[in-house]
Amino acid sequence: MEILEAFASYEREALAAIDAAASADALEAARIEFLGKKQGRLKDVQGLLGKASPEERPVVGKRFNEIKDAVTLRWETRQQELCRPKAMATAIDLTLPGTPVRLGRRHPLTQTIDEFKDIMARFGFEVADGPELEDEWHNFQALNIPDDHPARDPLENFYLSTASTANAEPMLLRSQTSTVQIRIMEQRQPPIRIVSVGRVYRPDTIDATHSCMFHQMEGLMLGRDVTMASLKSVLRMFATAYLGGDVEVRFRPSFFPFTEPSVEVDVRWKHGWLELGGAGMVDPNELTAIGYDPEEVSGFAFGLGIERFCMLRHGISDIRNFYSNDLRFLGQF
Ligand code: PHE
Repeated sequence: MEILEAFASYEREALAAIDAAASADALEAARIEFLGKKQGRLKDVQGLLGKASPEERPVVGKRFNEIKDAVTLRWETRQQELCRPKAMATAIDLTLPGTPVRLGRRHPLTQTIDEFKDIMARFGFEVADGPELEDEWHNFQALNIPDDHPARDPLENFYLSTASTANAEPMLLRSQTSTVQIRIMEQRQPPIRIVSVGRVYRPDTIDATHSCMFHQMEGLMLGRDVTMASLKSVLRMFATAYLGGDVEVRFRPSFFPFTEPSVEVDVRWKHGWLELGGAGMVDPNELTAIGYDPEEVSGFAFGLGIERFCMLRHGISDIRNFYSNDLRFLGQF
């Protein structure tokens, strides 16, 4: 039927013109051409309705409404599509230069800690964790630090008031990461190779090299035939990996209740020696107290100050820089 063919080509052309309209103006032109009320193509096809015979009329009338609705709907949809980016363009002026967003970065201590864990992982040490809030057993007793030892003086530690803890047992902010040695030995059997990095707390007077909170990395290696030589090798390889070059490590005799023998660890840096922390062979008393046989099991432990290492490598002269959150300082790493 001629009329239906005319409807179909009207519909095809109208939809194509609407789809092709790339601007509001082009879309408006399409509207006038294909949907205009007074004149235009819709009027023309509508005029064909009068030419239909009485039998054809219902079919043709229905079809006319369908194509009119289809074209109108497509036009409305296209208008919404064209409007959306326009609204955005007025909200954001795309011609302005981009806002420079300053990228954040990890704190220099966090960077150091991550690097330490990475280096130690290469030597087969896994990372262990322990709580910062400790009981006296893990912070002192189990480490062979007796009741009357000066390190247990309330003035040397941050004890919590017993009223603030649920149980009557005294609790304190740990003063060393050596607590983790005990926690690990309580849970595992040798061979053990762990490092534990975290915060420790001591009521020191704050100055360029002291803070009442700082970070330590504790290391513990237990097994058969672990010796002082193993300790020195691990520390030397560690210091070399972090500081670069072949770093010389020195042991000075010292004393810690939980290691025997005990040493202070120094590294040669530029023109002098720098103290990094304490170390030693795990005291047989400690091994026995945990339930290991000191004839079978031996091991070393060390505790290094993180801030020290980081200050050394980056030439930072005041420890307080780490905690003052000054972006001019932090942005340099
Ligand atoms: N815990 C000791 C300190 O804080 C360091 C240490 C760790 C010494 C392990 C020996 C073995 O000073």
